[in-house]
Amino acid sequence: MQDIVFQWIEAERRRQEEGLELIASENYASPSVLAALGSVLNNKYAEGLPGKRYYGGCEFVDEVERVAQERLKQLFGAVWVNVQPHSGAQANAAVLLTLLQLGDKMLSFELAHGGHLTHGSPLNSSGKLYTIRHYGVRPDTYRLDYDQIRDIAREFRPKVLMTGASSYPRDWDWATLRRIADEVGAYLVADIAHPAGLIASDLLNDPLPHVHVVTSTTHKTLRGPRGGIIMIGKDLEVPTASGKPRKLSALLESGLFPGIQGGPHMHSIAAKAVAFGEALQPSFRSYSQQVIRNAQTLARELQGLGYTVLTGGTDNHIVLIDLRNKGITGKAAEQGLEKAGITVNKNLIPYDPQPPLVSSGIRLGTPALTTRGFTEAEFQQVARWIDQALSHLSDEAYLLRLKEEIREFLKAYPLPYASVSVATLS
Ligand SMILES: Cc1ncc(COP(=O)(O)O)c(C=O)c1O
Repeated sequence: MQDIVFQWIEAERRRQEEGLELIASENYASPSVLAALGSVLNNKYAEGLPGKRYYGGCEFVDEVERVAQERLKQLFGAVWVNVQPHSGAQANAAVLLTLLQLGDKMLSFELAHGGHLTHGSPLNSSGKLYTIRHYGVRPDTYRLDYDQIRDIAREFRPKVLMTGASSYPRDWDWATLRRIADEVGAYLVADIAHPAGLIASDLLNDPLPHVHVVTSTTHKTLRGPRGGIIMIGKDLEVPTASGKPRKLSALLESGLFPGIQGGPHMHSIAAKAVAFGEALQPSFRSYSQQVIRNAQTLARELQGLGYTVLTGGTDNHIVLIDLRNKGITGKAAEQGLEKAGITVNKNLIPYDPQPPLVSSGIRLGTPALTTRGFTEAEFQQVARWIDQALSHLSDEAYLLRLKEEIREFLKAYPLPYASVSVATLS
């Protein structure tokens, strides 16, 4: 008899197939990526690095990890990479453990303005182990204020200047940030978890030439398995607590393992290798271009329907909506949209008067629906559906009819594995 778990997996596959996926951090990985994830590489222990393992029998997984490393280097023009972080949070924790001592100072983007928990939230180890100050966005433009970052850095003298975000719809000026970091003697770290695929496609500013260390996830715009990576554009000799300088790459290597992780997940590394191979194809750049065009269309259309789009638009895959002029909270919007088969997440807007679990905004993202083949025309329709749902939040029957309309519409945009039930793999 089939394990009930596979019935829930099939139910989730159908949910993904039948609804509009607008969560900015999600995507549909290819069947090849899923096949690698579900492979026998799950069974293998391989602590260490290719050619330098603490376990026998690693000759094939060594090759897999080398392919992942080489493809990733090529994708971003990196001189050194590590493909072993289990996820984005682990990549960040390992980098901070490497660059900071207990109590050292880090300056990072305010969580409530778009930053990430792993950049110094008191609830995360980064906020417990290190001394944190934040920079934010300007209250008038909702954009980063590089003068403010410089002023705080001069006064606070951080050892790490952490950059990158979970919900910021604009590009980053890495060259200016490097000048600020150099002025105060800080390491500059860029967490590109969200826009990584767009950066790999050369559509946004490239941090690699400017920052000391880059971290990322592999499952958002990069469209791979859930996972993390660490990269550097230039391998420097850096001072250590013992006084003896060492290569930054060697320090990062041991910061991750044994610093915070044990055995690497070789099935994930294989899936990363497959995804990096896909991202190296010319079609991936076209996909990324479409992701941005779709986000800009969604922003423009929603503006036309009277919605407040933060910063007036977007440079990347994210559209942030301030719902206050509509008299709706982020929480009510998320719940109502879900009833209509539209998945989004409520989001704090900068200087939000509401608490995080209520919030005044929603965050929308285009990577997943672009993978399904949505272009500008479909995103005009998405904007109309969002508006229709938000205008009928208390009309359950209306929302259900909308859900049915969306389900019918999506039949013309099959998932990459629309006919494959993962449950049958059991
Ligand atoms: C900017 C940023 N960094 C790190 C992470 C953490 O990644 P993970 O959820 O894979 O640990 C996220 C995830 O949302 C993120 O947006």
